[in-house]
Amino acid sequence: MNILIIGTGNMGRGIATRALAGKNTVTLYDEDGAKAQALATELGARVAGDTRDAIAAADIVVVATPYAASLELAKRLGSSLGGKIVVDISNPLNDSYTGLVTSGDTSAAEEIRKLLPASAKLVKAFNTTFAPTLVAGQVAGQTLDVFLAGDDDAAKAKVAEFVKAGGLNAIDVGALDRARQLEALGLLGITLQFRLNTGFGTAWKLVLPSDSPIAR
Ligand SMILES: NC(=O)c1ccc[n+]([C@@H]2O[C@H](COP(=O)([O-])OP(=O)(O)OC[C@H]3O[C@@H](n4cnc5c(N)ncnc54)[C@H](OP(=O)(O)O)[C@@H]3O)[C@@H](O)[C@H]2O)c1
Repeated sequence: MNILIIGTGNMGRGIATRALAGKNTVTLYDEDGAKAQALATELGARVAGDTRDAIAAADIVVVATPYAASLELAKRLGSSLGGKIVVDISNPLNDSYTGLVTSGDTSAAEEIRKLLPASAKLVKAFNTTFAPTLVAGQVAGQTLDVFLAGDDDAAKAKVAEFVKAGGLNAIDVGALDRARQLEALGLLGITLQFRLNTGFGTAWKLVLPSDSPIAR
């Protein structure tokens, strides 16, 4: 698959690492072109020249920017994202990382969805997997779980295929409004890093019965 990742910070690196492990063609875009080029050279990815051309060529567009920037990008790039599978990975944290800026009756994913064309297929994913664990591809020898929420089953299946090719477990948790719980779980995971001093090295894991078809 052609995977476009917008944003080349910690999560851009982590998701690109898994995408390349899954033998995808990975294109990186960052406002800071030199930063995108440096990561692309290091990992063996490509760099997007024009964002809209890169979006047109992508099977999946991963928006790996802070929530406020993701809202802004959704507004700015909206029309070019028509018909595309768009992955939102954001945790809409407040400045002190003690809470979310979204109210309880919505989520970052739903707010971003409102700004996209109706034909765009938004999938929430990766918001509960910390960047260093994506780079490593596991925690303590255990496969990482990536929880997916979205309203389009075919889009979720495509993202699940991408996730699994990178050596991770994909767990479809339901419709896009399940992102409210995923973002709360993301926040809980972040607060635990400070309480447990675990350096963003933990992972949320759904322990499955051994005969489950999705167990790895
Ligand atoms: N870090 C984690 O472990 C983790 C885990 C799960 C989810 N997340 C979520 O993943 C997202 C990215 O987190 P991160 O840790 O990768 O952050 P990061 O290391 O700070 O990287 C953010 C990237 O977004 C770019 N960016 C910032 N503002 C932008 C704008 N207005 N337009 C375009 N690009 C912009 C930054 O570019 P510049 O550096 O040039 O500003 C940078 O490349 C966040 O929504 C976060 O909540 C993070």
